Amino acid sequence: MLQLGDEVTLYSVVFVVVLLGTRSAVWTTALTVSLYVFVAVFRFPQAPADRAKHILHPARGGHGSGKVSAIAHRGGAHDAPENTLAAIREASQNGATGVELDLEFSADGVPILMHDDTVDRTTNGSGPLSKIRFADLRKLDAAAKHRLRSKYSGEKIPTLEEAVEECIRLQLTIYFDVKSHPDEAAAALKALYKKNPVLYNSSIVCSFEPKVIYRMRQSDPGVVTALTHRPWSLSHLGDGVPRFSSPWKLGWMTLLDVVLDWALHHVLWRFCGVSAFLIQKNFVSQDYVQYWANRGVEVVAWTINTKMEKEFYQEIMHVSYITDSLLEDCEPHY
Ligand SMILES: *[C@@H]1O[C@H](CO)[C@@H](O)[C@H](O)[C@H]1NC(C)=O
Ligand SMILES: *[C@@H]1O[C@H](CO)[C@@H](O)[C@H](O)[C@H]1NC(C)=O
Repeated sequence: MLQLGDEVTLYSVVFVVVLLGTRSAVWTTALTVSLYVFVAVFRFPQAPADRAKHILHPARGGHGSGKVSAIAHRGGAHDAPENTLAAIREASQNGATGVELDLEFSADGVPILMHDDTVDRTTNGSGPLSKIRFADLRKLDAAAKHRLRSKYSGEKIPTLEEAVEECIRLQLTIYFDVKSHPDEAAAALKALYKKNPVLYNSSIVCSFEPKVIYRMRQSDPGVVTALTHRPWSLSHLGDGVPRFSSPWKLGWMTLLDVVLDWALHHVLWRFCGVSAFLIQKNFVSQDYVQYWANRGVEVVAWTINTKMEKEFYQEIMHVSYITDSLLEDCEPHY
């Protein structure tokens, strides 16, 4: 029922806006019907609900009475150097249900794990990934900037394949976070799923970019996917600081934030056929979780870094969460 309500609202809004713009009932009707047909033809259905449930609530590794998933952010960036095999092993040892890993590419196109598009923040190297070949990336120390660098010294940047093999061996769920390169990422992930079919039941592809998710579903509609969102992300940084000093630019981006937020909640999620919505924790409420539950979509909160918050999500909200540490309270890793 609610889904029908969404659709009526969407097409009513489009109808009114186009009517105001064109002042022609014929054009307005034609455009609204075309949009309806376009969405109906090009949208992807959600992946089967039982498979999504298997991934989001695996039988093993549930936390608390809600049996929710605790997912180690970048493999657990606080407990070990982010996006490394050491982090994956540490997360498994500390009882994580799964890991969130960031997909990037070396200059020569090898899929690797890295969050940023430069190596400066995490390794002892410097420069953009787009300029460094895999053989040279491999010489860097991926633990160089971590608070526990002496313990993990010499840890390498792993390939996507190495990381996935380690996760499969340890029976960890994988949340692949893809920020860019929609075509390359979809191709790399498709090959990976083909080689390791267990991933269809144990991993989910997530992105802030609807284009990335749409591209993934196009190349393999069997893959379970999620959209990631932080309201006001176009105009403000994660810590609430405005991204732009010019009030005009800030105002414009704030307006785009409103449009993006509306589109994600009403159109884009369905166009992509996502099974989950990964949302910044400040925006999670019982009503919000219910909104998505009515649409067959599961909410995952990020980033939950204190014991008190974890208990709240496990016991009261029954919502899975992404965390920087399985061991102790810590500051968020942006
Ligand atoms: C980074 O550290 C590794 C391992 O200690 C070392 O072999 C490499 O030469 C270092 N690279 C740079 C650019 O300092
Ligand atoms: C995925 O899980 C379903 C049942 O939950 C099972 O029938 C199927 O064989 C599994 N596929 C793989 C590749 O493990």
